Amino acid sequence: MKTETVLITGASSGIGLELAKCFAADKSNLILVARSTDALETLANELRREHKIEVHVITSDLARPEAPSEIFAQTGKLGLTVDVLVNNAGFGLHGGFAELPLLRQLEMIQVNIAALVELTGLFLPGMIQRSCGGILNVGSVAGFLPGPQMAVYYASKAFVLSFSEALHEELRGTGVRVTDLCPGPTETNFFKVARSHRIRETRTRKMSAALVAQIGHRDFRNEKCLSVPGMQNKMLALVASKLLPRPAVRKLVNRYNKLK
Ligand SMILES: NC(=O)c1ccc[n+]([C@@H]2O[C@H](COP(=O)([O-])OP(=O)(O)OC[C@H]3O[C@@H](n4cnc5c(N)ncnc54)[C@H](OP(=O)(O)O)[C@@H]3O)[C@@H](O)[C@H]2O)c1
Repeated sequence: MKTETVLITGASSGIGLELAKCFAADKSNLILVARSTDALETLANELRREHKIEVHVITSDLARPEAPSEIFAQTGKLGLTVDVLVNNAGFGLHGGFAELPLLRQLEMIQVNIAALVELTGLFLPGMIQRSCGGILNVGSVAGFLPGPQMAVYYASKAFVLSFSEALHEELRGTGVRVTDLCPGPTETNFFKVARSHRIRETRTRKMSAALVAQIGHRDFRNEKCLSVPGMQNKMLALVASKLLPRPAVRKLVNRYNKLK
């Protein structure tokens, strides 16, 4: 049987890097995408050595609207068929919508939403044609909540949740699976990038990126639509989306995100 090829965005650190290790342990060949070439090359060498797999590195800034089509063209030039697409690259920004730089928030929409949709649109038809493969999107428990003080980030993850659930249903019976991995607070560079480390560092218990990736990878292999790692996060998703009234949820999130 042909060896599976998995393309992972945001593989240079955190959850994406750990997902790369999970797929490498399956003996899948990998295409690693992010901006940090050195970090990608270091990981690629480690995984080639340890698992005897093929690993390709593509340096790309997904905030550039041309990036998804360039990545698609580059995989074609390399003669690679992408069987599994892992849309993991993403970032958040902490602060009130009006105070945060608008351009950076638009970049967030480009990376967290537009690039994810375009990469899906480019690679999915081939998967459907071959009747196999899948897409693992990295959303967040934030996708279940309105997110004052991180409005665009939470909304971007609500998009990922809705989009992934819809595709999961549309693709039933095609042989192509779609999973939304919805982590809660996880030990990565995320909080530094979002500039929210002062608040969360002391207040929040975080899961390790390795454990989050292992759970997401397992749930993807088991063809689950949603993967919410950890009991605390499962409860949060359930309480926020089904048990508490929406006005109470948004007040609670606002208070939590404002903690100093
Ligand atoms: N950590 C958490 O608490 C948490 C919770 C829920 C969901 N998530 C989600 O998990 C995913 C991974 O984040 P993480 O927590 O692992 O944080 P991280 O350690 O900061 O990793 C983010 C990854 O995305 C890549 N990335 C960011 N901007 C990019 C761009 N413009 N172009 C290409 N790649 C870009 C980064 O690579 P380069 O910097 O090298 O480009 C890096 O590999 C994100 O979608 C995030 O929203 C995180």
